[in-house]
Amino acid sequence: MALDKTVYDFQSEWSKKMLENSAVLTVELQKLLKKEYQLNWNGIHGFTHWVRVRENGLRLSELTGANTIIVELFAFTHDICRQDNGTDPDHGKRAADFLNSIEAGAINLSVTDLELLKYACAYHNKGMVEGSITVQTCWDADRLDLGRVGTVPDPRFLCTKAAKQPEIIDWAYRRSLFR
Ligand SMILES: [Fe+2]
Repeated sequence: MALDKTVYDFQSEWSKKMLENSAVLTVELQKLLKKEYQLNWNGIHGFTHWVRVRENGLRLSELTGANTIIVELFAFTHDICRQDNGTDPDHGKRAADFLNSIEAGAINLSVTDLELLKYACAYHNKGMVEGSITVQTCWDADRLDLGRVGTVPDPRFLCTKAAKQPEIIDWAYRRSLFR
């Protein structure tokens, strides 16, 4: 996938490497994300968080069988409409509205898959653990990145057996410390 380096402020070579093989990060989507995100691009809910959520989700998907296109798109869009770095209780719903507003070309999903992605975004910050395996994988991918704010992921708040494995939590936690 071509990466628009004039649009992206990459934090590290690691981020670039992680994204070179992204199936979803079109140039159109990159520009939309950069335009939409109001907070610090390099902040705790910004780009490097999304990159780690993507990697968490792809690793989990190998174990859960989740739809990896939805998982990747969730990583890049679930926090896109945050207005602050606190609770911001409606940011998930705003992300779903943002996805509704995107024209074909930036993302290419069937109607059914778009609905699933919107659902995953809308409710990702509501503490839910039940849902389809793809939705659960999205939520776990995000929750496994809590080390960046000083929290070790608690298996009780994770959805999938895959994410609850101590070795997965440990792997994700260690990576989340190097934001
Ligand atoms: Fe997040």
